[in-house]
Amino acid sequence: MTDVSSQGPPQGDDREVLTNRQGHPVHDNQNQRTVGARGPATLENYQFLEKISHFDRERIPERVVHARGVTAYGYFEAYGAWGEEPIDRYTRAKLFQERGKRTDVAVRFSTVIGGRDSSEAARDPRGFAVKFYTEDGNWDLVGNNLGVFFIRDAIKFPDVIHALKPDPVTFEQQPRRIFDFMSQTPESMHMLVNLFSPRGIPADYRHMQGFGVNTYKWVNAAGETKLVKYHWMPKAGVRSMTAEDAANVQADGLGHATKDLYEAVARGDHPEWELLVQMMDDHDHPELDFDPLDDTKTWPEQDFPPRPVGRMVLDRMPENYFAENEQISFGTGVLVDGLDFSDDKMLVGRTFSYSDTQRYRVGPNYLQLPVNMPKHAAVRTNQRDGQMTYHVDSAGAADPVVNYEPSVIGGLREAPYPTHDEQGPEIRGRLTRKRIPRANDYQQAGQRYLLMEQWERDDLVHNFVTLLAQCDRPVRERMVWHFLLVENDLGLRVGEGLGIGPEDVTGLEPLPGQDLTDEDRERLAHLG
Ligand code: HEM
Repeated sequence: MTDVSSQGPPQGDDREVLTNRQGHPVHDNQNQRTVGARGPATLENYQFLEKISHFDRERIPERVVHARGVTAYGYFEAYGAWGEEPIDRYTRAKLFQERGKRTDVAVRFSTVIGGRDSSEAARDPRGFAVKFYTEDGNWDLVGNNLGVFFIRDAIKFPDVIHALKPDPVTFEQQPRRIFDFMSQTPESMHMLVNLFSPRGIPADYRHMQGFGVNTYKWVNAAGETKLVKYHWMPKAGVRSMTAEDAANVQADGLGHATKDLYEAVARGDHPEWELLVQMMDDHDHPELDFDPLDDTKTWPEQDFPPRPVGRMVLDRMPENYFAENEQISFGTGVLVDGLDFSDDKMLVGRTFSYSDTQRYRVGPNYLQLPVNMPKHAAVRTNQRDGQMTYHVDSAGAADPVVNYEPSVIGGLREAPYPTHDEQGPEIRGRLTRKRIPRANDYQQAGQRYLLMEQWERDDLVHNFVTLLAQCDRPVRERMVWHFLLVENDLGLRVGEGLGIGPEDVTGLEPLPGQDLTDEDRERLAHLG
């Protein structure tokens, strides 16, 4: 009888031989080590146990949101100017200064709600996260494709996501739960009017916009600050799908947008976006009817024109999906000199959340992975050890080793502060829990509706009616009430589709603590 394990490779096969992870050659990858051909197996079966136990740990937790995504690499090329003006007037961030200066980037596009293998044709916001590997360390700009968000305070994020994620019992995404939450969250109206219009299903990742959404700051060499918002505009234009288009695309597979990006890059059709920046003086702008720190609002372009500051080209795809797409880690706290946070209450919460989840999801040393490490800046810290430490900073090596600071005998010293302290506004106040004033939840949602073409409005109304028809009566009525405040036509049309007229909702009181504008009150007084 022939013993298969001793056959060995055919003569003339010059491929490398398989080893285990200790570098020991594997002579038989087909049969476990057993007592006799029919078993039992033995516990010292190191090769088998190593192989299977590593397999058992192949997955890391998928991202709690944005689980499905695709990464691509390329470069950002600066224009050196903010429109007509030299950019150093506003920011000292080095990557923006010189015309033609290139910075390596990694970008991850994603959907939000579905799991890692879910459909890319879902109606869902898209993530647009860019990591700039600058000489001052990394900068992450973690945005979406719709320009606004459902909520304006980070404390509500777990709730909005629970409502949008599948039901914990049936594991089905349920309009009943989604609109129950949204009906009690008037600040979500602007996002909903975007999300349920055709813009809510981008045709693919190459034809969509990106927005930083939250308000950030720029800081110049004198320490002067401005409030800024970031916009990415695709050179290829913006394309979206109706629910019907999406159903057809989905019938052919769940990953059309990833495939599209791989194919485009492979044929040399490198997607390109221009980065534009809107700017405001750094204060609360009492003249505006919204708060500049409110991420449910866009800044009117006629008053705050977006100015181009550079372009981004994607020309390379990852060699390994897991290493470069699963393990890449973005966060809003990852800023470089010349860029800063604002007090936007979402941004502050996000900044804690990203690195917190990455320490759990990838591990405490996630920043030692090649895709996350700063490529063009040295890393020298006194932070040490932890699971999966790979890189050991050598900067502290001396006798004795000084892995602390301050020290007079060695080790690392603090970097000199580049310029003055920031000159941003002085902030005073009592500790409190309050929503920001000027909520103005309906006006921009209404303006967005009025800007849509007729077919887009029809699609929006159709989508709302289809989903709200599955919701409880009080939720339907409250949503019609909100839509009448957003724009009469929207409220009337959705109401008509649901058999709910303005007369059915006139008795509804504003939500507890709701902040209505005079215009909202006027509309309420004349509902319908
Ligand atoms: C991913 C939290 C709001 C864009 C994530 C992740 C968390 C998170 C925990 C998973 C990160 C990871 O596992 O690596 C939050 C919280 C928010 C918030 C707490 C509000 C308080 C937003 C907003 C945007 C956004 C407003 C868009 C402007 C993204 C993107 C990703 C992401 C693009 C995926 C990054 C990637 O591709 O790895 N968020 N998020 N998030 N979030 Fe948020």
